[in-house]
Amino acid sequence: MMDRLPDGYFDDVYAASADPWRMAERWYEQRKYSITMAMLPDERYRHAFEPGCSIGMLTERLLERCDHVTSYDVAQAALDTTRGRIGERTDLTLVRSSLDAPWPGADVDLVVISEVAYYLAGPTLRRVLDRECALLAPGATVVAAHWRHAVDDYPLSGDQANALIGETADLTAMARYRDDDVVIDVLRKGATQSVAVSTGVPGAVGQG
Ligand SMILES: C[S@@+](CC[C@H](N)C(=O)[O-])C[C@H]1O[C@@H](n2cnc3c(N)ncnc32)[C@H](O)[C@@H]1O
Repeated sequence: MMDRLPDGYFDDVYAASADPWRMAERWYEQRKYSITMAMLPDERYRHAFEPGCSIGMLTERLLERCDHVTSYDVAQAALDTTRGRIGERTDLTLVRSSLDAPWPGADVDLVVISEVAYYLAGPTLRRVLDRECALLAPGATVVAAHWRHAVDDYPLSGDQANALIGETADLTAMARYRDDDVVIDVLRKGATQSVAVSTGVPGAVGQG
């Protein structure tokens, strides 16, 4: 079994269209990015890791909340479009690399796995999550957002991808959004506290 969809698959997708999923124009995508960003429990992050950034629509949102963003994509065309849209910035590192390669530095406190984990075979995804989540610092946030409708070419469904991510030994579930189209899970490395508890909202009581 292959580890993941071949990189050439995505080169072909971008050769046919600069924005294959029409992320820049679809209300569906804008709304989903807003939900994903609203679900992040911390107001600010030091260093976000975003595998599979495509043309950088979610990257732009992350830059508003993160001191630094490192985004990977296997398609050079996608990275070039992202750089063209966002421009040169010292707080954005773009790398041609894959989700199953080593993740960036130990200071990463947010991992955004959005519409990319279903390109990996289940055993590969399991292996990379176990290896890389073990290296994250306690308290790091991991968010997983995936399309729930069937796509013939993809090794995993969106539900399977989120389930695998949710089963990662080092991660604790914090929140879930799910509708007919998308499932979004927020997890934390180690113990969790609600946002009201962790930010000291009067009356909020921890669940122990
Ligand atoms: C559907 S887009 C998702 C874009 C963005 N994350 C979002 O949520 O809107 C998927 C992107 O993942 C990239 N990709 C595919 N396989 C990948 C892999 N193994 N590692 C990193 N990126 C990958 C594709 O080239 C494509 O740009």
